[in-house]
Amino acid sequence: MNTIYLDSNDSDDLRRQRLYQGQVYVYSSRPSTRALCDFARELTEEAFGSLNPCEAQHHLPVEKFVAILADLKPRFIHHPRSKVLIQAMLADLGCDMEQTYFDVPRLRTAADGDYLKSGLAYAFHPHRDTWYSAPACQINWWLPVYEFASDSAMALHPPYWDKPLKNGSREYDYGRWNAESRHQAAQHVKTDTRRQPRPEEPVQVDPQVRIVCPPGSVYLFSAAQLHSTVPNTSGKTRISVDFRTVIRNDAAEVVGAAGERGIGLCLKKSAGTR
Ligand SMILES: [Fe+2]
Repeated sequence: MNTIYLDSNDSDDLRRQRLYQGQVYVYSSRPSTRALCDFARELTEEAFGSLNPCEAQHHLPVEKFVAILADLKPRFIHHPRSKVLIQAMLADLGCDMEQTYFDVPRLRTAADGDYLKSGLAYAFHPHRDTWYSAPACQINWWLPVYEFASDSAMALHPPYWDKPLKNGSREYDYGRWNAESRHQAAQHVKTDTRRQPRPEEPVQVDPQVRIVCPPGSVYLFSAAQLHSTVPNTSGKTRISVDFRTVIRNDAAEVVGAAGERGIGLCLKKSAGTR
């Protein structure tokens, strides 16, 4: 990764080509992205009542906080309006709507300090989504719902774009995860014992890149990009939305991230070392 494109007019084909080379695209808040952000806020504020959602963790026992998220998150994720808003946003940002498939959006909460780092506010260790069975052509879309700071951001680790990183993906079974582990998230309050693919060698987390952008803006990066949750020391809960897209033809032709010289193909041969 050497370039961050801001409010680019690139076509989706060119954008994907560059995303597959490890570049990043950032779009300022616009009506279609703002609408998704506003809807996430509406449900979130409904759920937290009179409390400011970004400060609620300082006023609630963690079990109560988790109970609120356990109700809120699936409501947002599976709400028909979330899907309509994402479709509108993808069309507005130049995606080919015949070819573009998206996963339901996740609502993420990264709590300040040690309050909650597991289950419904999982603090992600450095990982590539491709370790979690994502195809090499998967694009991640990340959108903040409220203002956040560098010390509550997500970090990208671009030096690993072309560098293999030994990891535990050989142990990970996406079908099993969906069947058994995902719905247990709310039970993991103090620790998270669900098996996830992790680096199996030391990771140099610096240099890293943190993109800090206003609510309603959105940035895109490849699923092969190494990324992690920054330990939140901002004093506030970071609340964000992310979802993934895949272009049908790219998936069929096994086109995708150029990082690590064709990670999608390599995964089949030697899972666990890429
Ligand atoms: Fe991820």
